[in-house]
Amino acid sequence: MLDTLKQHVERLYHQADVELRQAGSSQACEALRVKYLGRNGLLTPLLQQLKDIPADQKAQAGKLINDLKEALQAQLDEATRRVTLVEQEHQLAQEAVDVTLPGRPRTLGRLHPITQTLYELYDIFGHMGFQIYETREVELDEMNFQLLNIPPDHPARDMHDTFYTKTPGVVLRTHTSPGQMHVMRERRPHPIRVVLPGKCYRFEQTDASHEWMFYQLEGLAVGTNVTLADLKGTLTAFVHRCFGQDRKVQFRCSYFPFTEPSMEVAMSDGRGGWLEILGSGMVHPVVLENGGYDPARYSGFAFGMGVDRIAMLKYGIDDIRHFYANDQRFLSQF
Ligand code: PHE
Repeated sequence: MLDTLKQHVERLYHQADVELRQAGSSQACEALRVKYLGRNGLLTPLLQQLKDIPADQKAQAGKLINDLKEALQAQLDEATRRVTLVEQEHQLAQEAVDVTLPGRPRTLGRLHPITQTLYELYDIFGHMGFQIYETREVELDEMNFQLLNIPPDHPARDMHDTFYTKTPGVVLRTHTSPGQMHVMRERRPHPIRVVLPGKCYRFEQTDASHEWMFYQLEGLAVGTNVTLADLKGTLTAFVHRCFGQDRKVQFRCSYFPFTEPSMEVAMSDGRGGWLEILGSGMVHPVVLENGGYDPARYSGFAFGMGVDRIAMLKYGIDDIRHFYANDQRFLSQF
């Protein structure tokens, strides 16, 4: 009886030994644990056989089975340790990060060339004491035209191809000059030195030098002793700081309803020619009066420039439409 049990135990041990050696994963080890030591495992029938064994051999038989159980458990532990180690090494190798690889650079965003140009203009005029003052893009006809000395039937309106809204008397501003009126009415009776930046709109056919939306920078200085010499000095300094000291500046007679006298400013292009860059003049007495300043006591100068045009000249861009096409190949150059 005991001998048969002993053979049985040895066979089982041998079989388990072979199978455990072949186990290649922790799952396989777990399956073997269930197979041998589990509740319905191969050891259970052996234990059940114990009750048939004569009393004087029971202790020995029990020891046999117990030793087998312990030996199997030890074998299992050993096999499990072996495969987990291999599995861990495999996982580490797979998840390894090569810290010597170069990183992927993140591309930085950048400011739009028009914004960059505006910032440069703010800097130049800021150093001359001008504050930045923003006003609305949707304007009253009254502000955009009438108070600037452009009555409803004035021929100067032809130059401003206006976008009208459905609301009578409300337009998209065609220039930043209505901002003059907003500042004067807010600041009166104090002196003014501001630049007014922003988008303007004209219902125009687009081409290399025209867009239906574009940027202007307006300038306005009002005080008790502001003269044409101040205008010329300010704008000459501006041209020199923005485009270089070697530029010559030309003031040409012109006409705007809201300035008197009016002048266009041009600068030398370095090749014997001239480039027109802005409109300017002494604030018309009617405009001063509409703004709440007594023209007998106050005077002022104003100017307005196309920021897109300034940017095109600065960076040598030949088509205004590049600015608003959102093409990264163009924009990333600035
Ligand atoms: N508003 C004028 C334009 O759009 C420019 C200008 C501004 C001229 C201020 C004189 C004074 O053309």
